[in-house]
Amino acid sequence: MHIAFVDSNPAALEAVRLATEAGHRVTFLQSADPLYPPTEQNLRILGAVDHLVDGLATTDADAVTAALAARHAEVPIDVVTSQHEMSTEAVAHACRTLGLRGTNPDAVLTARRKDRCRETLDRAGLASARYALAADEAEVLAAAERIGYPVILKPPSGGDSLLSYVARTPGEAADGCRGVLTGLDAVPAGWHGQFRRGVLVEEYLTGPLVSVELGVKDGEFIPYCVSGRFRWAQDEVVELGSYIPSNLPPEQREACVSYAVEVCRALGLDLGVFHLEIIHTERGPVLVEVNPRVMGGALPTIYKHATGTDVFTGLLQILDPAAGVDAPAPTDGCVGGRKVMARHGGTLDAAATLERAARHPDVLQVVGFDSYRTGPGRTVAAGQIVARFILRGEDHLSVVRAAEQILHALEEDLGIELMIGEKD
Ligand SMILES: Nc1ncnc2c1ncn2[C@@H]1O[C@H](COP(=O)(O)OP(=O)(O)O)[C@@H](O)[C@H]1O
Ligand SMILES: [Mg+2]
Repeated sequence: MHIAFVDSNPAALEAVRLATEAGHRVTFLQSADPLYPPTEQNLRILGAVDHLVDGLATTDADAVTAALAARHAEVPIDVVTSQHEMSTEAVAHACRTLGLRGTNPDAVLTARRKDRCRETLDRAGLASARYALAADEAEVLAAAERIGYPVILKPPSGGDSLLSYVARTPGEAADGCRGVLTGLDAVPAGWHGQFRRGVLVEEYLTGPLVSVELGVKDGEFIPYCVSGRFRWAQDEVVELGSYIPSNLPPEQREACVSYAVEVCRALGLDLGVFHLEIIHTERGPVLVEVNPRVMGGALPTIYKHATGTDVFTGLLQILDPAAGVDAPAPTDGCVGGRKVMARHGGTLDAAATLERAARHPDVLQVVGFDSYRTGPGRTVAAGQIVARFILRGEDHLSVVRAAEQILHALEEDLGIELMIGEKD
């Protein structure tokens, strides 16, 4: 097939590599300011594609449409995908204008607007959270009063957990509102348009947060996995990593998958692999958000260790009109990716080392200092990620126990206090 990728997050470059390796014709539209670093491996992947369009504003619908139209006229494109959340809207517009095959444009555009997504769930009679879209502080405060504290404030089309706040009082809601409306410093310029759509005020859902990875092709749903998140015992907003499979009892896990299927059906998400974040509340699964792309961050690597298969192989089977789709592989025990995070600001020991973590029998992989631009003698800020390790255990509890043991050893070896202890 001729597959066109419009930009990518770092993890999904693996899909580009696999597509090229499988002999597909690959077109890649690259941003002037990519999310992935120019490592040797990444440059090799991008150097191997058939056609590279460079320096494109990949979040701009007109630019993406023009680039895809030109390429399609040269060599017909079989499918277009974006694995960069902020480019999915531009791709939806382009597919609609050019009639190219990809995820249903209307579904992508609804998924990317968390308020419209909730409206769709309400109409379909699916579980959701109380919500309101507010334009200013007065509207935020009125909505929070109506919904009831605590509430979550967030941009309706955000990403990367940027600018999400929990507000327990009107004072906190006013602060959070200012944060969403004016705090764009940490947000790349090309994303500002999508971040400026008001403030979404939502009922605060309580319960374990899981993600369902759901493939869809020809009306068939393929649940690749349900993953859980490690959250810090002292402050549950701090995410310490993820693990596969989730720790929910089997019937709750199945309820999350069935609910995820209903959500995709209601939205019309018909082709691709989608990442649905769900909180399993007392009244059952409730959607946090649905991302019209594959899971990012360390999750694809964790998935590979947990199942021995690559989720991006699944994505390519789904996107390739001529391919069959393999059933998801079972998981072998529990595999977790745990961040090593500094508890306070400080300085790493001059002899700081990750050796002991790497030698631990349960550890499969250590992502070292270089990846986080730190190392012996370097200063770190509170909450900064210093390294990451991936480990396997028989079950969730043994992973948590082993991680704790490793982190205590690392406190000695790094000379700083770390965030240790998970919320159950
Ligand atoms: N309604 C909600 N109730 C409880 N927690 C929420 C709610 N909405 C968001 N969150 C928390 O905030 C985080 C970020 O929100 P999310 O909608 O996933 O934004 P992003 O697109 O930035 O990932 C979630 O991972 C979850 O921990
Ligand atoms: Mg999210």
